[in-house]
Amino acid sequence: MNKKILVTGGAGYIGTHTCIALHAAGYDIVVYDNLSNSSREAINRVSSLIGQSIDFIEGDIRDAESLKQVFSSHHFFGVIHFAGLKAVGESVAQPLKYYDNNVSGTITLLEVMSEYDVKNLVFSSSATVYGDPERLPIDENSPRSCTNPYGQSKLTVEHILEDLAVSDASWNLIPLRYFNPVGAHPSGQIGEDPNDIPNNLMPYISQVAVGKLEKLSIFGNDYPTTDGTGVRDFIHVTDLAQGHVAALNYLQQQASSKSSSGTTSSVGFLPINLGSGKGTSVLDLVAAFTKVSKQPIPYQFAARRAGDIASCYASAGRAKGLLKWQAELSITDMCQDTWRWQSMNPNGYNAT
Ligand code: NAD
Ligand code: WQD
Repeated sequence: MNKKILVTGGAGYIGTHTCIALHAAGYDIVVYDNLSNSSREAINRVSSLIGQSIDFIEGDIRDAESLKQVFSSHHFFGVIHFAGLKAVGESVAQPLKYYDNNVSGTITLLEVMSEYDVKNLVFSSSATVYGDPERLPIDENSPRSCTNPYGQSKLTVEHILEDLAVSDASWNLIPLRYFNPVGAHPSGQIGEDPNDIPNNLMPYISQVAVGKLEKLSIFGNDYPTTDGTGVRDFIHVTDLAQGHVAALNYLQQQASSKSSSGTTSSVGFLPINLGSGKGTSVLDLVAAFTKVSKQPIPYQFAARRAGDIASCYASAGRAKGLLKWQAELSITDMCQDTWRWQSMNPNGYNAT
């Protein structure tokens, strides 16, 4: 079976961790990234962790000619498509930038894939497509709705993939709906490196712990949750990376059973949640990080953040049943690995 995979956005936070997991699982990867939210240093570190240099191409998914060059030089089994912009607040201020990058970019990629008859795709979707969930835990058949352009861009791509699967049964399309990815590689060499002040909880907490930020504002303590703060399903990024390997293995099995049995059935559009299935509150996460880091994490309660929901956690049964994958690592592991990355790299990938 052909094990060559194109990884768009492979220089980013989730992409780098997934490249390591793919390499360990015997996949042969080519990374394609425009470095708009990442750095060559991340690629260098992945190369040194896997002990061989990564096949890296600097390019934009909106650039069809550049993609065609890549597809004509390599024979891919499929694509893992991470490339995209992800800052919710920025998407509200600059919606066209988000639709152009995330939606137009994905259309260009799909057109080139189609032209080269590469029809296996794993796409980075998000639990954000569930909006404010009607019931918990959230399963893949829950209604979808979004309140910001970032979320809309993910939902729009999902609709495009659904339409594509209906139009042509040879596509095999797995949007993975990530819950809240956190943590870092256990080596402390790669991790999340936000520009400016972090928007997300875990990097904010770790920057308070390391002394870069003064105190955490907890957005809301009057939610209908155990302690009044928001509840999320945090998932370790290395577990998430394994989820991508499991999705690709599934596509490979489907492809080989299709060719050996001569059947025409394909995967079509198959969304799968990647979460732990467990909810953790903001205060629980602060307490766990304090314990692991042995650092004070001062915080204050502040008003709810616009657009936030009270609770969100996955029903992870489909991933377990179909992909034979489940999250293994605990909240303590997530805090330990984040803290190792943060303390070893207080300025992220930039030299100190
Ligand atoms: P990231 O910003 O670290 O990685 C995205 C990568 O894509 C970056 O390296 C960036 O340079 C690259 N990129 C962006 N636009 C590109 C373009 N037009 N052409 C080529 N490369 C481009 O983000 P991440 O946290 O690793 O997220 C990866 C994917 O997962 C994104 O699509 C994101 O929306 C999605 N996602 C992330 C989270 C999360 O909390 N981190 C949750 C759900 C979904
Ligand atoms: C978690 C909890 C906040 C920061 C976002 C995106 C979502 C997905 C993952 C990409 C909430 C609280 C946060 C802070 C706080 N990304 N919080 N103080 O909002 O669940 O999801 O990232 O797809 O689309 O919306 O994650 O980490 O921002 O917030 O109190 O400084 O922490 O209110 O309850 P969220 P988050």
